[in-house]
Amino acid sequence: MAFPTTRLRRMRATEAHRRMVRETVLSVNDLIYPLFVVPGRNIRREISSMPGSFQLSVDQVITEAKEVSGLGIPAVILFGIPEHKDETGSEAYASDGIVQQAIKAVKDSVPELLVITDVCLCEYTDHGHCGVVKGGQILNDPTVELLAKEALSHAKAGADIIAPSDMMDGRVSAIRKVLDGDGFEQIPILSYAAKYASGFYGPFREAAESTPQFGDRRSYQMDPANSREAMREAALDIEEGADMVMVKPALAYLDILCKIKERWDLPVAAYNVSGEYAMVKAAGRLGWIDEGRVMMEILTSIKRAGADVILTYFAKEAARALQEQGR
Ligand code: PBG
Repeated sequence: MAFPTTRLRRMRATEAHRRMVRETVLSVNDLIYPLFVVPGRNIRREISSMPGSFQLSVDQVITEAKEVSGLGIPAVILFGIPEHKDETGSEAYASDGIVQQAIKAVKDSVPELLVITDVCLCEYTDHGHCGVVKGGQILNDPTVELLAKEALSHAKAGADIIAPSDMMDGRVSAIRKVLDGDGFEQIPILSYAAKYASGFYGPFREAAESTPQFGDRRSYQMDPANSREAMREAALDIEEGADMVMVKPALAYLDILCKIKERWDLPVAAYNVSGEYAMVKAAGRLGWIDEGRVMMEILTSIKRAGADVILTYFAKEAARALQEQGR
């Protein structure tokens, strides 16, 4: 039926019409809030390129976790910035490492809040790469062993979900095997399956102090030009035992998110990364956009494209906005 019989504007007439036929409704249940943990006490250092996001000492992480949980956000993801970085990132898998301490502290004080841990070496290595380096190369298999060790140490500290973000081949099966071997067969793996070598990670590298000291991450993270390759990455991770797969970044990769969601039936996550957050914050501060409105539009669009969960630095602000709207 064509115009004038059909008039799509009829169902847009009032907020009640729109609310009734709305296809995608963002919920606080969809959100995961990233936290950066640093050594020390009483530290709450704002990340200059990520206004509203902080490097936090463990005591402050607890305060933050309580607030996050109080807002109804189901999960946080922890990133650690160690006291000492070294060649093999040994604090990443130390039983008393910074993230391990934070996991225990959060699970002790806010047990109902899910703790997801990012498994990677880049925050812990002095060269800033996500793996073991030899002769300027990032070695795959020796790195996978360390990642499995790191994942196990997170599980032992009490992590609820393990999220490898390194992009080494074979790490999901290696992590699954090590977890199962130690009685952690109930811990899910959320794999950063399609993680692109992206300029949008800039502010995160300031937050996590993880900028590579030579070269870049293009020999392990994906080429932004590729889409079919993302399907192979997701297929392999699912075959290796991933319980959820992630697409990262989110906004410039909504096509990838959509394709993965259509092809597989497992939950799909999207990481609304630091650069995406920083751009909105910067333009908002300049008065060039309505920050709150753009935030909700972005998060709703990521969900519409196929994300079941969204990792976002906007989680707390979005939770408050949803509360105000009575949702
Ligand atoms: C670690 C990791 C990174 C991010 C999440 N985990 C940085 C990177 O790969 O360089 C980026 C998150 C963001 O930009 O918000 N490998």
